[in-house]
Amino acid sequence: MKYDVDTAPYPDQKPGTSGLRKRVIVFQQNHYLENYIQSIFDVADAFSGQSLVIGGDGRFFNRRAIQTAIRMAAANGFGKVIVGQNGFLSTPAAAHLIQLRGAFGGLIFSASHNRGGAKGDFGVKFNIAGGGPAPEAFTDAVYARTGEIEKFKIVETAAPDLSQIGVSNLEGMEIEVVDPVADYAALMQKLFDFEAIKKMFAGGFSMCFDAMHAITGPYAQQIFEGMLGAPAGSVVNFVPKEDFGGGHPDPNLVHAKELYELMMGAKAPDFGAASDGDGDRNLIIGRHQYVAPSDSLAILAANAHLTPGMAKGVIGIARSMPTSAAADRVADDLGVKLFETPTGWKFFASLLDGGKISICGEESAGTGSDHVREKDGLWAVLLWLNILAVRKQSVAEIVRAHWKKYGRNYYTRHDYEEVDSKLAHQLVDALKARLHQLPGQVIDGHEISFADDFSYVDPIDGSTSSGQGVRVGFTNGSRIVVRLSGTGTVGATIRLYLEHYEEKNGDLDQDTQEVLAPLIAIGAKLIDICGATGRSGPTVIS
Ligand code: G1P
Ligand code: ZN
Repeated sequence: MKYDVDTAPYPDQKPGTSGLRKRVIVFQQNHYLENYIQSIFDVADAFSGQSLVIGGDGRFFNRRAIQTAIRMAAANGFGKVIVGQNGFLSTPAAAHLIQLRGAFGGLIFSASHNRGGAKGDFGVKFNIAGGGPAPEAFTDAVYARTGEIEKFKIVETAAPDLSQIGVSNLEGMEIEVVDPVADYAALMQKLFDFEAIKKMFAGGFSMCFDAMHAITGPYAQQIFEGMLGAPAGSVVNFVPKEDFGGGHPDPNLVHAKELYELMMGAKAPDFGAASDGDGDRNLIIGRHQYVAPSDSLAILAANAHLTPGMAKGVIGIARSMPTSAAADRVADDLGVKLFETPTGWKFFASLLDGGKISICGEESAGTGSDHVREKDGLWAVLLWLNILAVRKQSVAEIVRAHWKKYGRNYYTRHDYEEVDSKLAHQLVDALKARLHQLPGQVIDGHEISFADDFSYVDPIDGSTSSGQGVRVGFTNGSRIVVRLSGTGTVGATIRLYLEHYEEKNGDLDQDTQEVLAPLIAIGAKLIDICGATGRSGPTVIS
């Protein structure tokens, strides 16, 4: 028996390309979630009898959301839902499952690296056939729909218990509960030389993977400890918790501080890594050697051919605009094209679909390849492990050899979170209005060579994305980027990205914040965030 119920509040703000993200209390409003899911189904339309993948990162509200989604899928005419055991699926594993099963699409419940728990954030994302995130035209249509719909469809029967793997039925719709890890692990086994990595662990190689009480725990345990023979205890914080154990599941030096301290200490293992709430980001730290995500992308691109999955070599590389130009030098060296895209995975997905690139990444610790249409945290960790197993060198040796060959792009990002939204826009708009005056100006001895508001034409579908962030370049190769975050849930976040290039025969061992201090000062002259907000500095430095 199916019935319709009136919908209540609708999302008040256009969701970004990462889907709808809000505080849990917003989702707890009567029928708020139902409205959004029904709007997705209304826009998606022709799925009758087809399969839908459903899963989430285990955060608070996941169980309720998944139960609701299953009942609504049944009422809306899906033939089948494929759902991870206990509702668990990492974002890359969900993307893979959609592709593997030829599903119509998937609903992923996560707010990625945002805090969890009852007071934290929740999110809904729809991924399309093939596994990638829905395009903007789709999410825009969903947003428009949320303001129009008056009813949603849901079956009255409760959805089954998801703790047992197996098949059941809900009012004519099949429900298949799957092991969330198995298919994903099998894919990883195809892409990497598990035997070589196994041998490395057997030879005493040590690692600490911090799952941050988020979704990668079960994946990491099964793959690293179970399949690759890493000693028990190599994976820590592996039980997914609704509030991520009270932590913030963002794998950076602030929120993965314990891992960082371990890796810098006397008892550091050979290799350290972490992933975020939904498993699509990665943090890599060698013994006494942090690897900045921009550097990691460059190093992975330069060495990817050492792994079975990319043995034929890299055909092209893409990085998001704010990501450092370290990967550009690798692309030059390999004689392949480098694509500079706006922030957001969909731009990479288009290049991957078009066969233009084999590897891509962003400064915010997302790295990926052609294997799924999402960034993939554990994939990046395995790529590092495979390279380490082949090169038989330490992370520090590999990083240093890379800088010696290509030079070093010193890089940092300063985030000013929860700034009053109006003020943040005013500050950025004022800078944009001055851009045309900047080229040729000399600030603190640095001459500006170009200044623009980044615009991108997708080489595959020809679409233009403009207003993607301010770039200010200097004659010495340094660069400052300013943009507003599209994923914050409260106020606005202003991001300032600073980069200084040091030639290969220059000083490659300086402190990043010190090297960048002059550029940080210039940044403050371009956009005086502290002055305007009364703050003394950024909220997060990474
Ligand atoms: C942030 C990151 C960006 C990433 C996105 C989704 O977006 O900066 O690289 O693609 O999260 O994980 P932002 O908040 O900057 O818009
Ligand atoms: Zn994420």
